[in-house]
Amino acid sequence: SQARLVVDPAFTVGEVDPRLYGAFVEHLGRGVYTGIYEPEHPSADEHGFRGDVAELVTELGVPVLRYPGGNFVSGYRWEDGVGPRESRPTRLDLAWKSVETNAVGTDEFCAWSRRVGAEPMLAVNLGTRGADAAADLVEYCNHPGGTYWSDLRRKNGTPDPHGVRLWCLGNEMDGPWQVGHRTADEYGLLASRTAQAMRLVDPDIELVACGSSGAAMPTFPAWDATVLEHCYDHVDHLSLHSYYQERDGDRASFLACATDMDAYLDAAIATADHVRAKGRHRKRLGFAFDEWNVWYSQGTSVERDWEQAPRLLEDQYNVVDAVVVGNMLISLLRHADRVRIACLAQLVNAIGAIRTEPAGPAWRQTIFHPFALTSRYGRGAVLRPAITSPRYETERFGEVPVLDAVSVQGEDGITIFAVNRDQHEPLPLTVDLRACQGLSRASHTYLGGGDPLAANTADDPARVVPRAGESHGVDAGELAITLPPLSWNMIRVT
Ligand code: AHR
Repeated sequence: SQARLVVDPAFTVGEVDPRLYGAFVEHLGRGVYTGIYEPEHPSADEHGFRGDVAELVTELGVPVLRYPGGNFVSGYRWEDGVGPRESRPTRLDLAWKSVETNAVGTDEFCAWSRRVGAEPMLAVNLGTRGADAAADLVEYCNHPGGTYWSDLRRKNGTPDPHGVRLWCLGNEMDGPWQVGHRTADEYGLLASRTAQAMRLVDPDIELVACGSSGAAMPTFPAWDATVLEHCYDHVDHLSLHSYYQERDGDRASFLACATDMDAYLDAAIATADHVRAKGRHRKRLGFAFDEWNVWYSQGTSVERDWEQAPRLLEDQYNVVDAVVVGNMLISLLRHADRVRIACLAQLVNAIGAIRTEPAGPAWRQTIFHPFALTSRYGRGAVLRPAITSPRYETERFGEVPVLDAVSVQGEDGITIFAVNRDQHEPLPLTVDLRACQGLSRASHTYLGGGDPLAANTADDPARVVPRAGESHGVDAGELAITLPPLSWNMIRVT
């Protein structure tokens, strides 16, 4: 069986906002401590941040980094994390049953984030705190000087404002696991009032309201609608979260989970547009898909002792996971007209694209590769390709296409991102490029086609890397290419 893709610049979805390629750093396990920050590490810079990790983060290509949580933020007092380290309190982190030393806080994170080429996206605590602490933090970060909080920032060693533009109004506030979780009405009102206070401090900020913490929540999408009815005019984006995993050996369904992500996005967009119509609002809401990834391991076990930077959620990703992550990026790109921000959750160690050992190496997990290549080449205008593909049956999502793909028109040509979900057979693909002028050659990069369970480890960090396929000519406007079984592919036509 064969697949066909028609690429036509007339069918533009929208421009890719580079912030679609963000990632997430939470005070969770070893995400921060012995992840990005480890003063004793041989590669540490003068600020205590690991140089080897910073290099990989730059290579990953993340223009936005969300911080400091996640569930962590719902019990966080940001004031604990600023000022002289020796006076910072050590606290219990209730979200992850850990001990938090506060050695890294807002100033260190914002400065590091800029050094690795990313703008910080900060979340405020709407679990145990409210508008006052949130507005104070905006003043601390963004006000130039001459007030209590801005002068404190200057005294703490940051004379110029951090200029944080993106702010999350809490995290997963519908989740019963969230410290201080709330009903939709409670949260909607709180988000609205907090947003207004924060904007009075700095009118240029962009605000993200919490949607449901996932499509599977029983309250989705009613929660989202109620929240937006309270705060539509005061926020710019609604947040969405999705994690997937292979369940009970059902790889066929797992490989198709981007169809579920598509359905989730379509439902969330419809919900926001319904609130827009109902409230006669003018603006169209954006979306911040600010947590997404493959996630296997369970959360914290109550049996554990309180520990500092415990090994939590250190999933090792394989080839299948990388193909799924690549496919989730295809889904995000397909919705580029509405999704302006997305954050791979997470960056290092805890469900991270990068892994580290304390005093040891840092390496790229399999999922690092499709992410880095999509971030690098998936810039420009997203084109909606017409796809004809063989289909297969899945237990979780019904019948789905074997091929999923999206194309992006950049300055130097067209880049097609495609997955072959067939676990055993290669997929011959014809790309119809007759509507695209002046394209003559295609290079093919792929990941997959071999052992689906192969992974990268400290001892074998480059076992799974993208491979160069054959280069192909465009003949009479058509390109013929074969996608290996169970693979993620990037085809660059110039
Ligand atoms: O990313 C890990 C956790 O997943 C986050 O802290 C939380 O927001 C979500 O449930």
